[in-house]
Amino acid sequence: MSNDTFRDLSQNPLVQRLGVPRIPVLRRYSPGQPLLDGPALVSAVGAGRNAEQIRALLKDAGVADAGAEGKVAAAVLDATGARTLDDLAAAREFLTPAVRRLAPSGRLLLLGPEPDPADVEASAVAQAFEGIVRSAGKEVRAGATANLLVVHPDAPPAAADSAVRFFLSARSAYVDGQVVRIGVPVGQAQDPIGMDSSAEVDRPLAGRVAVVTGAARGIGAAIADTLARDGAIVVAVDVPAAGEALARVANRTGGTALQLDITAPDAAERLLAHLRERHGRVDVVVHNAGITRDKLLANMDADRWNAVLAVNLRAQLAINDALLASDVLSDTGRIVCISSTSGIAGNRGQANYAASKAGVIGMVRALAPRLAERGATINAIAPGFIETEMTGKMPLGTREAGRRINSLRQGGLPVDVAETVGWLGQAESGGVTGQVVRVCGQSLLGA
Ligand SMILES: NC(=O)c1ccc[n+]([C@@H]2O[C@H](COP(=O)([O-])OP(=O)(O)OC[C@H]3O[C@@H](n4cnc5c(N)ncnc54)[C@H](O)[C@@H]3O)[C@@H](O)[C@H]2O)c1
Repeated sequence: MSNDTFRDLSQNPLVQRLGVPRIPVLRRYSPGQPLLDGPALVSAVGAGRNAEQIRALLKDAGVADAGAEGKVAAAVLDATGARTLDDLAAAREFLTPAVRRLAPSGRLLLLGPEPDPADVEASAVAQAFEGIVRSAGKEVRAGATANLLVVHPDAPPAAADSAVRFFLSARSAYVDGQVVRIGVPVGQAQDPIGMDSSAEVDRPLAGRVAVVTGAARGIGAAIADTLARDGAIVVAVDVPAAGEALARVANRTGGTALQLDITAPDAAERLLAHLRERHGRVDVVVHNAGITRDKLLANMDADRWNAVLAVNLRAQLAINDALLASDVLSDTGRIVCISSTSGIAGNRGQANYAASKAGVIGMVRALAPRLAERGATINAIAPGFIETEMTGKMPLGTREAGRRINSLRQGGLPVDVAETVGWLGQAESGGVTGQVVRVCGQSLLGA
């Protein structure tokens, strides 16, 4: 049983007979699971650059080619070469039958071109794919998702591999209706390291040192568990008052615990010293610690305002500054900042929280080019409604509304945010930087 009673009840055939729609149970990742649990359809329109690479990736992963009939676990369209309305019509010819064949928890993944300012029709066509994917996300049923990768013309085909793998796999269960840009990978990794053996695919963070703030509970604890499962050595950070829970996380992940209030004036210095002394470096930095102090703007006092901005934004700015000024962040460094859909859509009573979470997005965009110079990336994840203690305490009506107003008609789990962190944390994800990925089941809020 989950804490979503309505979803559990909706699985019962007797309840379905009353006309209650079934809320899908999403396929989620467990180690050793195949990339897809059925065959895949792959096609290209125009002079697609990525289809061959994707076919090779699927073959390595043991995924069979779908024939002309039957259910498919994934349908992938390489439209990176699409430039004209005729190409768009060809895309529809593939998509219409493909969508009909999509299995439960199936994956519709499109790779599209970047707009070309020199060619108006090509720019219109490039943008059209966003409209297609966002609509398809709302149409596909039974836990299936639709996402778009917009590929830079100079990005080598392998630059999209980690994103293709993530969006096809069960790791992206609650990531729907998203548009992610794949650029030329930052740093040395112009030719990204391919992942060939299944051991590397199952443990894509093997040997990487990761730090997670706010790791004692909730989403942060799930991030620590997931990164450790994928092979990372995890430094779990939380306030001294959460020391016992923090120690439990560090014990079960086999990493180290650091009791630290990230708003302390010497927090960045202490964090970097711990990383340097214990591990010699850091590869993945996850800014997850966050608080809410809700109040309508008309009644907002300075204490509530300052407390939220201090934890959710000021501390991240200070730690990132210190990382940039030091040599602790490795040359495949990946910084992942937890924002929120409140920072995109706004939320009644959350002007302070939304300011901090929108601020995180502004910070990510400004830092991406600076970090690219040293081979590092920075991205934001904006979770929507996630089933945690916090959302569990909401009044029933607000909670039910929050859960249902997305394409998957349910809340996400902390692990869904964690899996997205794991993808962005890989050395192979160097083509994705300065972006915001929502883990929201394609929520209508801020869409
Ligand atoms: N739960 C949701 O639905 C949701 C949705 C969108 C975004 N988020 C964001 O995800 C992140 C995690 O959320 P959660 O629901 O797991 O929250 P949570 O309150 O369960 O956990 C937050 C953790 O951060 C720690 N923390 C707070 N202040 C700290 C400080 N000054 N120094 C060090 N650690 C500190 C807390 O002790 C706690 O362990 C937050 O940034 C939150 O804003 C959550």
